[in-house]
Amino acid sequence: MTYRRLRLGVNIDHVATIRNARGSRHPDPVRAAGVAVKAGADGITAHLREDRRHISDEDITRLSREIEVPLNLEMAATEEMLEIALRHKPHAACIVPEKRQERTTEGGLDVVAGLDHLEPYVAALGGAGIRVSMFVEPEVSQLDAAASIGAPVVELHTGAYCEADGEDQKQEFARIASAAAHAEDIGLECHAGHGLTYDTVIPVAAIPTIVELNIGHFLVGEAIFGGLDSAIRRMRALMDTARARDAGQGT
Ligand code: PXP
Repeated sequence: MTYRRLRLGVNIDHVATIRNARGSRHPDPVRAAGVAVKAGADGITAHLREDRRHISDEDITRLSREIEVPLNLEMAATEEMLEIALRHKPHAACIVPEKRQERTTEGGLDVVAGLDHLEPYVAALGGAGIRVSMFVEPEVSQLDAAASIGAPVVELHTGAYCEADGEDQKQEFARIASAAAHAEDIGLECHAGHGLTYDTVIPVAAIPTIVELNIGHFLVGEAIFGGLDSAIRRMRALMDTARARDAGQGT
């Protein structure tokens, strides 16, 4: 089997979650996207939710203009989101299920049950040159349904695997591995994501037919532990320098 490089899409939604907690501009998800690209991200992923709980319309406008790598817009299959996607024409659009009350995207899209609703979205996005993917559970029937309505890409939901332990996790992993093999067999490009961590990413990254992983929440969480120390040290130094200068002027 030929070696295929695995792309990393960094999801910056939760940088916006922190920003929105204060309703101000900091931390800026577009700045985070720049950091992600410098650190090796191949693409940036952002989910514009109906309730705008994290990423805003302005973020999508700025990401479309300012980032130098492909933008993957996660979106629900609604008229509003389709209009936004067609306006910005991101490199890719990943169609996800969306419920208002959920904390995050819970479970994959039911493409089997939603064929008639989803097909025109795939056609409209694809017709505008946007690469369409469908975020699905790792099930053959969902992959076949996605292929039947012309989606070129599927993203396998790794949430159940990431949350499981022991034997259950092995079984969940086996579902992902066999769905990824099936995707290749039926000509779908295969991505995966949701809940991946330093531990859970390792087996998934080794599946040869998966070509892209989208990872967000864990990275933003880890950034606290990797970055809080230096942020506090810098603040401490600025405070101490300012106070020493002030004391010097007073003498
Ligand atoms: N892929 C899709 C389709 C998602 O909806 C999400 C979560 O927004 C992710 C990947 C990233 O998941 P996480 O933030 O848990 O890494």
